[in-house]
Amino acid sequence: MISTNILEKFREIETPFYYYDVEVLKSTLDVLKKESDNSGYKIHYAVKANFNPRLLKIISSYGFGADCVSYNEIAAALEAGFNPSEIVFAGVGKTDREIESALKADIFCFNCESIPEIEVINELASKQNKTAVIALRINPYIEAHTHKYITTGIEESKFGINTWELEEVLRKMSGFKNIRLAGMHFHIGSQITRMSVFKSLCTRINELQEWFITHGVSLDIVNVGGGFGIDYENPEKNPAFGDYFSLINELIDLRPGQTLHMEPGRSVVGQCGSLISRVLYIKNGSQTLFAIIDAGMTDLIRPALYQAYHKIENLTSNGNIYRYDVVGPICESSDTFGKYIELPETHRGDLIAIRSAGAYGEVMASRYNLRNLAKAVFSDEL
Ligand code: LLP
Repeated sequence: MISTNILEKFREIETPFYYYDVEVLKSTLDVLKKESDNSGYKIHYAVKANFNPRLLKIISSYGFGADCVSYNEIAAALEAGFNPSEIVFAGVGKTDREIESALKADIFCFNCESIPEIEVINELASKQNKTAVIALRINPYIEAHTHKYITTGIEESKFGINTWELEEVLRKMSGFKNIRLAGMHFHIGSQITRMSVFKSLCTRINELQEWFITHGVSLDIVNVGGGFGIDYENPEKNPAFGDYFSLINELIDLRPGQTLHMEPGRSVVGQCGSLISRVLYIKNGSQTLFAIIDAGMTDLIRPALYQAYHKIENLTSNGNIYRYDVVGPICESSDTFGKYIELPETHRGDLIAIRSAGAYGEVMASRYNLRNLAKAVFSDEL
């Protein structure tokens, strides 16, 4: 909730800006910490969701690990205090330089996405006289029922190793002297809200566990990735980590010595961030009222890219309700935050909050149209 006290402070800040409510982040982290401690699951926060240094520091202070997809993310995680022995490194296109640096940093595990990648890691690890710990990112062929751009676990996707390649991986392992195959890794998509999707994943993981056992391979890491969705309709609602963890606990048949790892991103930071913007103009179309605001798709691309819903609130008006198309200033029709949005009568100068923007907001911003990047403002610094 944005209090009137904070609203007064907002009036003095140049818009658009990202507002991070540190209390909300901490309350989410408290729940995540409690639930993960109870279940014994290892959390690696998916840095890609938001790599703002201040947020990273808060998250690392809870003792969580990090899930990174570039060496720059690994460096940012280390800088924020994450322990290298808790960092996993994923991505279909890790460069040689990134692999070398990650090996030097002694990270916990490489989540590998193809056989050629394992070959390169082996070669580079041997040059450093090290053994790289790897987990195979396996494509489980599960439909995530989310937007197609963030669905990653179906057949012929660029992500993960196919199950028909697993025999070949095992055959080749004897030649990989500088690799220790320690686990399996999955990530089937993001903003998954149907629990049945995770159920299918658990079933698939159990089948794969059997497969590895029959092939004489014991693994100590089972990493279910991220994907747990948030409620964009209700920005005040924290993710129900407890329900998600109980489901996994009930359904995944962990073997002795195995630890379950997960890589939540959106669910950790999504609800703590809002994009705050000012209304520049109200423009009358023949049928439509346009509220033109000073934030655009360069600040928050999710609605334009995925037709994503973000709750929009007018923080400074309480007039009669009208319907507006809330649009940005960028020269693209996709620069629309929402159509036919009910808002109290809106005027030039009103402050607008676009909620649940803590994940994949600030980090996906661009300078298209040579715009400035929106600054980050923290509730405890106002
Ligand atoms: N692990 C891996 C390997 C991933 O690829 C991702 C996200 C995560 C974990 C974290 O997933 P989460 O818990 O945040 O769902 N830009 C898109 C989302 C892209 C997600 C990419 N991978 C969006 O704005 O919806």
